[in-house]
Amino acid sequence: KDNLQEKAKHILDTNFNEDKGFTIPCEGLYPFQWNWDSGFIAIGFAHYDSNKAKREIEALLSAQWENGFIPHIVFHNDSDTYFPGPDFHLSKLHPLASKSHRTTGMTQPPVLGFVLKEIYDIVDDKEDMLNFIKQNIDKVFFNHQHFYNHRDPNQEGLVFIYHNWESGTDNSPIWDDIWETMDPPNYKFERRDTTHVDAAQRPTNREYDYYLHLIEIAKAHNYDDAKIAELSPFLVQDPLFNAMLIKSNEALIELYEMIGDSEDKISTLKAWQEKAITRFNEKLYNEKLGGYVHYDLRNEKQIEHLSSSSFAPLFSNIPTKEHAEVMVKTLIKKFGGEDRYLCASFDPESDRFNPKKYWRGPIWINLNWMLYNGLNNYGFTDIANRVKEDSITLIEKYGFYEYFDSRKSVTEHAGYGGNNFSWSAALLLDLLK
Ligand code: DGY
Repeated sequence: KDNLQEKAKHILDTNFNEDKGFTIPCEGLYPFQWNWDSGFIAIGFAHYDSNKAKREIEALLSAQWENGFIPHIVFHNDSDTYFPGPDFHLSKLHPLASKSHRTTGMTQPPVLGFVLKEIYDIVDDKEDMLNFIKQNIDKVFFNHQHFYNHRDPNQEGLVFIYHNWESGTDNSPIWDDIWETMDPPNYKFERRDTTHVDAAQRPTNREYDYYLHLIEIAKAHNYDDAKIAELSPFLVQDPLFNAMLIKSNEALIELYEMIGDSEDKISTLKAWQEKAITRFNEKLYNEKLGGYVHYDLRNEKQIEHLSSSSFAPLFSNIPTKEHAEVMVKTLIKKFGGEDRYLCASFDPESDRFNPKKYWRGPIWINLNWMLYNGLNNYGFTDIANRVKEDSITLIEKYGFYEYFDSRKSVTEHAGYGGNNFSWSAALLLDLLK
């Protein structure tokens, strides 16, 4: 295990850009700073180099837009190994986009709030970290305010995403239902991802047409959230995304209480929380499936599929004890057979399940990390430990891959996507703590 920890640190240090102070998720495949990756990466750094953890977060926040929005990719550097790059995204079409950085005009699951709390809990020098948090926490609060003001047209406490890349679960079979409602042109573009990774493990070209088309719609309206809410064919209330926001709200409340003198912010956060958790349970829980699902806000219906996102609300203390018990039964029955590692990213019993393809079935370490912590929150320690042991075993056996096959029958080359993947390294350090 010591050796594994050393390897993990080596990966993070190698992927860290000393000059600009951020970490690439993976060489070649993802050569810039990604929003939620950088949050998980900061948790890893906090275990042995708190200065790098702080720099990582500062680098991300340095690209925050003037309206509070935090983008999904920050193009701190140039690279021709990734498509679509800054010239495609053209974030500066938005009048309040970052003036100092080129970014995308979409976001990713809002992890920063709970990441600040995690790193505070991890480091030894609490005073130093609390000072850092004091300097940055209002930016995260401002980001949440942006979500509730601009991404919640019904003012119901649940925010929408307008692109699958905002979900983090980029090509989940969940989105197939939405692609069926769209008919984009065949765009001309040159994929770069498939020069680094076997195309069988990545989205198809046709899927990229949908992805690019959604960005074209947003660009045509200068990334205006109100226009996007009115026009985007992809408009989803995602249980993973909203659970991250709720977990981050909870962490901000705890941190502001520690900092003191923040009554107004605390009461605003508490009001958001109450509304969000109530509505989350009313709107996103699916009795028949025994877990949370996505809600298609454009077509006003639940998207009835289970995925690893269905269990993320455990991490954020959203389900009642009764629902949590049902969810654990669902998890064990559908995802947790003897022949499987936990936890596949999509329902293994579905005909849309693909054990090798990006978010259509493989196991991801960040979702496992949330699941492990979530199950522990509710006292399901046996199954929590199984998720943890499975995560460590997969990395030990196959290396620090981006994603893994859930089938125990596949015993060779069962790590997929990018290798030396930063968040797999970072979260392994946290699981081994
Ligand atoms: C991808 O797969 O390239 C997405 O940008 C990840 O966010």
